[in-house]
Amino acid sequence: MQNASVTDWSALRAEFPVFEHTTYLNTCSLGALSRQARAAVNQFLDLWQAYGASAWYKTWLGEVQALRSSYQRLLNAQPGTCTIQHSISSALSVIASCYDYTQRNKIITTALDFPTIPYQWLVKPNVEVVILPSDDHIGIALERYAAAIDERTALVATSHVFFTSGYIQPAAEITKLAHALGAHVLIDGYQAAGQIPVDVQALDVDWYLTGGLKWLLGGPGIVELYARPELVQRLQPTTTGWFAHGQQFAFDPENWSYWSDARRFELGTPAVAAVYAARAGMDLILNIGVEAIRERELLLVADLTSRAREAGLRLKLPANLEEHAGIVMFPVGEPSQVVRTLAEHNVIVDYRPGHVRVSPFFYNTVDENQRVVELLAQIVSGEGRGARIQTKEQRTQG
Ligand SMILES: Cc1ncc(COP(=O)(O)O)c(C=O)c1O
Repeated sequence: MQNASVTDWSALRAEFPVFEHTTYLNTCSLGALSRQARAAVNQFLDLWQAYGASAWYKTWLGEVQALRSSYQRLLNAQPGTCTIQHSISSALSVIASCYDYTQRNKIITTALDFPTIPYQWLVKPNVEVVILPSDDHIGIALERYAAAIDERTALVATSHVFFTSGYIQPAAEITKLAHALGAHVLIDGYQAAGQIPVDVQALDVDWYLTGGLKWLLGGPGIVELYARPELVQRLQPTTTGWFAHGQQFAFDPENWSYWSDARRFELGTPAVAAVYAARAGMDLILNIGVEAIRERELLLVADLTSRAREAGLRLKLPANLEEHAGIVMFPVGEPSQVVRTLAEHNVIVDYRPGHVRVSPFFYNTVDENQRVVELLAQIVSGEGRGARIQTKEQRTQG
């Protein structure tokens, strides 16, 4: 693990070819591709070509297990509690199938969560989905959780970091409230792990989901599912597949037994190319150290927001920087148009309703912050007047 002040951030940045030609500030949508991840996927292809199906036993199954262990290390989870899934949605569907909803038929989520969380339960008959509103569209007051959780609550399912505000929720506090009334807590950490330190034992959560797509630099296709140890022993998902079977290779169609570890929450054959990419991304993150990444992230977010303020741009921000991860929201009139115009200038960010979303990560720089702010300020001041912006080069050319 490294220290932020001695980490060679520009050497790390050089591992991501996208920066040779593009200002890429969109990690909350998709982490940048590193040379290491590309090499790892090539290695997967070489093994496939050289060994065909034998590659499963020679290396691939071992690689899958190594990925489970890396997640365990990242999240400070106990042995046998982390496994893989295909997407956050597939992980949620397996988790949802662990509950019978007879005594407890209430699922609490929030208006700020990625909607694949409520969708999972909205389609289920006999389940009441409570969606807590947000007063400021940035976070959810703890009192709202306290008022909603009761003896009928099966699960509180919400995010660690909200995808449209960057707000870091107090997951440990939410968990205390839920556990006091016998409810479980599921945390969607897709926007958290990799950019903020996560310790599932300290948070005391029941479920923690994350994956490589964004801040773990592993691309799409594989996510992580953590279940607290007593749930691993006790829960029996009814949405399942042969990778959850304890004697998977017995191919016995008449008898079922779950793995005794978190593999019982798996489904079918994993996307092995994605496993290789995920491992490479995870190695990068673990080698740098999430503490150092967080320190750098705080500097970059503070720099971006202060430049934006100076330029007169509007911002939607958590009040306290310590509660703010690397997602910065700019309210604008025509976000999709603004994002398209930025892309024409080789600046890649994205949008969500009413906002341009900019997400710096350790490999970004203050110069890139300046570039996006300058362009945004020009576009926003021209909004509605149909003004075309000029690059610095065009301006100096007259
Ligand atoms: C917080 C969060 N959860 C879930 C998802 C999507 O999950 P999946 O497509 O893996 O089901 C996203 C976006 O990709 C997200 O930002």
